[in-house]
Amino acid sequence: MPTSRRKFIALIGGGLILAASASLAAIATRQPRTAHLPWDMAGLDPEPRRRALSFALLSPNPHNRQPWLVDLSEPDAVVLYADPDRLLPHTDPMSRQITIGLGCFLETLRIAASHGGYRVDITPFPDGEDPDRLDARPVARAVFTADAAVTPDALFAHIPTRRTTKDPFDTTRPVPDTALAALTAAVRSTRFGGSVAPGDIADLRLLTHDALTVEIETPRTYKESVDLFRIGRAEVDANPDGIDFTGPLFETLAATGLMTRESVLDPTSQAYKAGLDAVYANTDTAMGHVWQVTETNTRADQIATGADWVRLNLAATAEGLALQPLSQCLQEYPEMAAYHAAIHARLAAGGGTVQMLARIGYADLPSPSPRWPLETRIIHA
Ligand SMILES: Cc1cc2nc3c(=O)[nH]c(=O)nc-3n(C[C@H](O)[C@H](O)[C@H](O)COP(=O)(O)O)c2cc1C
Repeated sequence: MPTSRRKFIALIGGGLILAASASLAAIATRQPRTAHLPWDMAGLDPEPRRRALSFALLSPNPHNRQPWLVDLSEPDAVVLYADPDRLLPHTDPMSRQITIGLGCFLETLRIAASHGGYRVDITPFPDGEDPDRLDARPVARAVFTADAAVTPDALFAHIPTRRTTKDPFDTTRPVPDTALAALTAAVRSTRFGGSVAPGDIADLRLLTHDALTVEIETPRTYKESVDLFRIGRAEVDANPDGIDFTGPLFETLAATGLMTRESVLDPTSQAYKAGLDAVYANTDTAMGHVWQVTETNTRADQIATGADWVRLNLAATAEGLALQPLSQCLQEYPEMAAYHAAIHARLAAGGGTVQMLARIGYADLPSPSPRWPLETRIIHA
């Protein structure tokens, strides 16, 4: 996660910088060695399903858990399963968001296959579904058919530079209404909403900020995130998923022991306070917000939400616009209930489920986030 010099100084103070030795400087410039390789490997495998899968695994997904497992034993088909070890039971008790991430995966698979001349017919939950929990049944069956009539999806070009931007946005650059129109055009089936009006921005900055406070001050939900912190290059290469902290600041903090999973859990620590400042710097610099609503909240709705979310994210990339979901107020655990009700009253007053809420704005393109290689996600070749 790249971090500005301003945050660096704020976090560890001038004294440590003065004390920094040449060896510390060498540590600070370390980069992950293998965690980003799947971004370079995408498209290299000539087998049509593996080629499309190599793009699909670059999809956005909650906490970068990459909860996908695929069975390729049936010719021309990909059977997708949710990895039961990669769910988020505290912040995502019904696996609604994990399912949205799997919808992102399936849509990216479809987009990539369209560029190889393949149509992909996707059947969500072919053996049925449980609305309360993901079980061992398949999430989807995707059948590949060579089809000369398939239209290559133009969003494909933006897969390699699509990001979730977890840095503050440029508050001197307003987002024009025309940018929202480009995002609307990308959405297929969910109800899309967006606003760049100053009054809405102020209200939603506050609501998303306060909802983040609830997540962090609820010990089990905060710990669920902290357990997924990968601090510094070595941890990120060993587990290329979760919430990654790399770049000069975090290499230095990891090497000096100033940031550990224990210290960030301690509300009296400097690392805890710095972490709060960093996440509030994001909610508080929203330059607009976008959201998606579905009338019902079936597993198929969640898959459709993911398909539209990744399309939005790719369309935003094409516009040079940055996005970051701010999902806390949409989450279904008791401590969040007041914010869940408030966001639904505001964005879905006539009924329905707010499935995604994100801030939009402008920022430098961040580094790609880590990924597990495709081989590790195949259960039957
Ligand atoms: C359903 C869903 C919810 C998400 N919620 C958040 C969120 O609340 N905050 C955030 O920073 N990112 C959120 N993300 C983005 C993921 O963290 C991100 O996709 C993942 O870390 C991989 O990074 P990438 O999108 O840059 O490849 C969400 C993504 C999905 C699909």
